[in-house]
Amino acid sequence: MIELSIDGKRVTAEEDATVLEAARAAGIGIPTLCYHPGLPPDGNCRLCLVEIERKGKRELVISCMYGARDGLVVHTRSSRIWKARSFVLKMLLERTPDDPLLKRMASHYGVAFEERFHVESDPCIKCGLCVRACEENGTEAIGFAKRGWEREVSAPFEEPPRDCTGCKACAVVCPTGCIDVEEEGDVRRIWGKDFRLVRCALCGERFATEEELAHMGLEGDEAKYCQRCRKMLFSARFLVGL
Ligand code: FES
Repeated sequence: MIELSIDGKRVTAEEDATVLEAARAAGIGIPTLCYHPGLPPDGNCRLCLVEIERKGKRELVISCMYGARDGLVVHTRSSRIWKARSFVLKMLLERTPDDPLLKRMASHYGVAFEERFHVESDPCIKCGLCVRACEENGTEAIGFAKRGWEREVSAPFEEPPRDCTGCKACAVVCPTGCIDVEEEGDVRRIWGKDFRLVRCALCGERFATEEELAHMGLEGDEAKYCQRCRKMLFSARFLVGL
């Protein structure tokens, strides 16, 4: 374990923790948009900026990427941090003025939407969480295309992605809910593709798509039951020694 100071409070953290993780574990809030505890950080949104002290000077760092160290002194609330986060929110709001989460965050920082020139509202804030979730699943069906202001998340050649398994992890992690998922009966539609949902043979819940199960290499009994029922059945079998 290591010990550092955050906002004057002594905090202990795991050696491989980031400043963000150390702060959150100690109950110190830092706003984030592109961070998810189950995915590798990417430092895209810059909202989690904090100050660290180094050689008597303070410098801004991205807390979701910056490793906590023994003796590190961190500040999460200063006028410089407030200004930096306000700037980030202002930029994001110019592009995505209608998103409720952004609007809430912006109003907390006293940032108002000012339309300087007309741009089509884009619900995607380019945080990249969906792309990382897809990578973590080993499918890499979607990715970033184009550069700068034009940057967007899409499937190769802007066609329904061949490797997508319809797991909808991308939609689940999206902070602005901008990835469309439709479910009707036993069919899920996402990224312009239809996927057949599999019902659990025990509880009847639709728990995965056929492609997802195939991608996970599940077959036979393992592919018939949802995780909850599978666990229950296997522990019941274990108990009766089958
Ligand atoms: S949460 Fe750290 S850069 Fe987005």
